[in-house]
Amino acid sequence: MRGLKDKVVVITGGAGGIGKASALRFAEEGAKVVIADFADGGETVAQLKAKGAQAIYVKVDVTNLESCQQMIATAKETFGRVDVLINNAGITKDAMMKKMAKEAWDAVIAVNLTGVFNCTSAALPVMLEQQDGVVLTTSSIVGLYGNLGQTNYAATKWGVIGMTKSWAKEMAKNGLRFNCVAPGFTGTEMVRKIPAQVLQEKIIVKIPAGRLAEPEEIAAAFAFLASDDAKYINGAVLSVDGACTI
Ligand code: CAA
Repeated sequence: MRGLKDKVVVITGGAGGIGKASALRFAEEGAKVVIADFADGGETVAQLKAKGAQAIYVKVDVTNLESCQQMIATAKETFGRVDVLINNAGITKDAMMKKMAKEAWDAVIAVNLTGVFNCTSAALPVMLEQQDGVVLTTSSIVGLYGNLGQTNYAATKWGVIGMTKSWAKEMAKNGLRFNCVAPGFTGTEMVRKIPAQVLQEKIIVKIPAGRLAEPEEIAAAFAFLASDDAKYINGAVLSVDGACTI
């Protein structure tokens, strides 16, 4: 991928799952990586360093704007700039709508939607000053097609697409790019929480590819969209879902 060497990449939810796979991929491309997570990212940073990459862990609560500002400040102090932000931190609290508690709605909105606002808001002053930067956000197949039991999650994953397109229209002229990746069902903890019978009998059977995505296959899309090969791609949603439309 062109242009990723020495780029400074901040990845929320970077300690595990798609975020960790992305961190490893960006490290392979020669980038400097900030693992930003509420969960401990020490192990992931050790793996990145073992591969020869420069990497740090920053604890962040994406629901808190000041915590996000601190995350960006630490990235800039350590590596001098922030080239790429990947808004990847996300949670599920699935329930059918008739049983969904207001707390489950509020919690998912706070992390998946307000969290994306907070992190992007924190990164923008640095990127606008640089007149250069890429903000990528993890949407989902669920943000494009909806899903049973995911009113809250679908609202957020749909919402980040609208935010991304709005930001592209506002700030393309400043040299900034904003895109989403919409993963299908991917082999991470989040999907392993789905009841086994539902996963097998209702979900996997409907994936034309016949299998879950590997986290590395989603990471490849992030690397492409962050690279100079995607210089004119702005406000887009790249589906990586094995042709699944649920
Ligand atoms: N697709 C199709 N059918 C589904 C379904 C789904 N995703 N989820 C549930 N159903 C079906 C069940 O099989 C069941 O069907 P039958 O009545 O024919 O048996 C019916 O809906 C009711 O389901 P439950 O009996 O499980 O009802 P519940 O109230 O006990 O639990 C639930 C509901 C919490 C939504 C649970 O079914 C569940 O967790 N389903 C999975 C939801 C899901 O797909 N989450 C995706 C998580 S991964 C993710 O979000 C990452 C991403 O971006 C893709």
